[in-house]
Amino acid sequence: MSTTATATGMPAAPPLPSDLEATMRRMRLPYLRAAAPEVLATAKSQRWDPTEVLRVLLAEEVRGRDEATRAARRKAAGLPAGKTLHSWREHDSSIPSPTQSALATLEWIHRGENLAISGPSGTGKTHFVEALAHKAIDEGMRVSWFTLESLTTAISRAAVDGSISKVLAKITRAELVVVDDIGMLPSGQAAAEAFYRLVDATYERRSLAVTSNIHPAGYDTIMPKTLATAAVDRLLHHAHVIVTEGTSMRLSEATNGHGVIPLT
Ligand SMILES: Nc1ncnc2c1ncn2[C@@H]1O[C@H](COP(=O)(O)OP(=O)(O)OP(=O)(O)O)[C@@H](O)[C@H]1O
Ligand SMILES: [Mg+2]
Repeated sequence: MSTTATATGMPAAPPLPSDLEATMRRMRLPYLRAAAPEVLATAKSQRWDPTEVLRVLLAEEVRGRDEATRAARRKAAGLPAGKTLHSWREHDSSIPSPTQSALATLEWIHRGENLAISGPSGTGKTHFVEALAHKAIDEGMRVSWFTLESLTTAISRAAVDGSISKVLAKITRAELVVVDDIGMLPSGQAAAEAFYRLVDATYERRSLAVTSNIHPAGYDTIMPKTLATAAVDRLLHHAHVIVTEGTSMRLSEATNGHGVIPLT
């Protein structure tokens, strides 16, 4: 057989004339180009209005570009583990359901408000924030994800070559900036300085979400006091402050034997 068939058993749509295809390549319309043979064949057989043909083809290009942008942003965001709301069990979390739902609307991000989640290890802080970050990307926003350690590295490196403001400008292009895991160990001058700079750069402009085992009010016990106080003052001014409770989900999964797949 000389003609190929599609999965539906329909004969494949005839290819585009080569000059048209070349023009589409030159105009960089990859998604429109890919959809065009099928759309044109359907349009012909169903006698579409020409306006409809144009609308469907351009919509396909827009859809493809948006999807590519989201994929690129997801990659650039550097989210840690691929945890989403899909795998999140609302009722296993100590965060009140109405709070979870309100945060999941992401309206707080549109308002440039902050989120500070603190609580014991394994209570879902990172999972929940990552899930919100994925949703933000799904909705076309940008996210920059850091740990306090990676933030400190990025800012300290920029301090060496004098590019701090450039680096901060790049980070705060994201609608949501996350600093996951402001640990329990004393973090020193460089970390406090990096954190302060980020909080200041996002203040009243961008949403900053932080997770920690300790409440923001206690950051001055792990960072130099003056910087910690100035950072926390700005951080909490417009912030949703959430405290998680309970025992570690990791520990209960481990003791129930759900932490691993049994060895055969
Ligand atoms: N409500 C929940 N629904 C589904 N999985 C959860 C939930 N809470 C926690 N988990 C799972 O439990 C594990 C620990 O959660 P997570 O890493 O978010 O804890 P954490 O509070 O960030 O802990 P740490 O302070 O040690 O960083 C993860 O595998 C996470 O997916
Ligand atoms: Mg965590």
